[in-house]
Amino acid sequence: MSKNVERKNTAMADYLDRIGAGKVLLTKEPLSYDWTPPELIGRDAQLGELASMFLGIESHRVSCRAVVTGNVGSGKTVLTHRFGLDLSSKLEGRRKIVLAHVNCRNHPSTSQVLQQIALSLDSGHPERGFSSGEIIQTIRRNLNTHGNHLLLVLDEVDILVRRDSSDLIYKLLRIDEGQDELGSVSLILVSQDPSLFNLFEQAIKSRLGESTVLVMPPYDAGELIGIARQRYEASCRPGSVSDETLAKIGRFAAEAGGDARLAIELLEAAVRRAEKAGRGDVLTEDVRPSTRRAATIEPSQVHELSKHQKLVLLGICRRLKKAEEITSGDARKLYELVCEEHNSKPLGYTTFWKHMKHLEAEGLIESRTDNSAQGRGRTQFITMTNTAPAALESRIERDLLHA
Ligand SMILES: Nc1ncnc2c1ncn2[C@@H]1O[C@H](COP(=O)(O)OP(=O)(O)O)[C@@H](O)[C@H]1O
Ligand SMILES: [Mg+2]
Repeated sequence: MSKNVERKNTAMADYLDRIGAGKVLLTKEPLSYDWTPPELIGRDAQLGELASMFLGIESHRVSCRAVVTGNVGSGKTVLTHRFGLDLSSKLEGRRKIVLAHVNCRNHPSTSQVLQQIALSLDSGHPERGFSSGEIIQTIRRNLNTHGNHLLLVLDEVDILVRRDSSDLIYKLLRIDEGQDELGSVSLILVSQDPSLFNLFEQAIKSRLGESTVLVMPPYDAGELIGIARQRYEASCRPGSVSDETLAKIGRFAAEAGGDARLAIELLEAAVRRAEKAGRGDVLTEDVRPSTRRAATIEPSQVHELSKHQKLVLLGICRRLKKAEEITSGDARKLYELVCEEHNSKPLGYTTFWKHMKHLEAEGLIESRTDNSAQGRGRTQFITMTNTAPAALESRIERDLLHA
């Protein structure tokens, strides 16, 4: 590109400066949840505990199992992910480990989970018309043929169990029973639900064993500061985020329940505010937890809602984690999805609307009506300014589990 064209393009892109001035931000990716940190902050003890549950895994014919529980944002997903990567590189040359991490929230049925496993094994889609037992045996043969050991993480497994029972887990635990080849599959079950074990029948409990449960404690302020610092250092200009700013993030995320996700969210929002204001440093006032915290909502406020009011609110929260506002039409669709996940029949439109009005009266959501929006009919837009949707979401989910 010639100098001239380059200069012209720069001038033309001036109006974009506000969103991408890069005075603070060098690369956005580490501020997303999906970024896998190079090392975990404050989880050495938990990694060690998980490793002890995998004692002997270097030997062929050995398979291991573990159950990991903890609140949302306690690092269950990232810890099991990290563990799988570390384990497979540690065993390189001794045992071939294939990793499969299936999030049952995204793949809530037995057949969807099996399909995800098949995809991880690169064996294509399981053919239609086979029972789950048959598909599992095909998976086992595939593993044995290639001399592979599968480390399967079933994340948010309670969603699968509530929907389709624990039959798949039972079959996976027995995959090698009566076979010559042993040690096909190791299993890690992950859930927010501390009473996950109670969902299982005795046959599963005894196969899992008592000493296989790892409970992830909430993070304290120091650890949350460390987590925010790690993200800042990986994404922002050195010196752009002060220690005080990080301390404020850590303090608030700790008060709100020790959720790493909230710490990252607060950092990301603060960076965005500084960039928008055209500043090169992120100040403590850019951290605005008061409008993002679940603490503004009493736990009893959630508890006292009816089941379907909770389901309506849950659908709204999930979308508002990613969007500023949603339309009432989308809220309805999300509600229907949540109902499916919870095996409930969606209520009719009239009752749905009554529930929306109730949530608004309770101050859980706000709505505005846009008359100018396309054509006939008015569109309602729903927002949530009093609460962090992510924190409210996990509160509702916990409440529904214990209902
Ligand atoms: N110990 C940690 N060190 C660094 N980042 C972490 C740590 N724990 C959690 N995170 C990050 O916080 C976010 C939430 O963690 P996640 O594993 O998804 O929690 P959970 O699965 O328990 O809800 C993720 O982006 C994750 O990478
Ligand atoms: Mg998770």
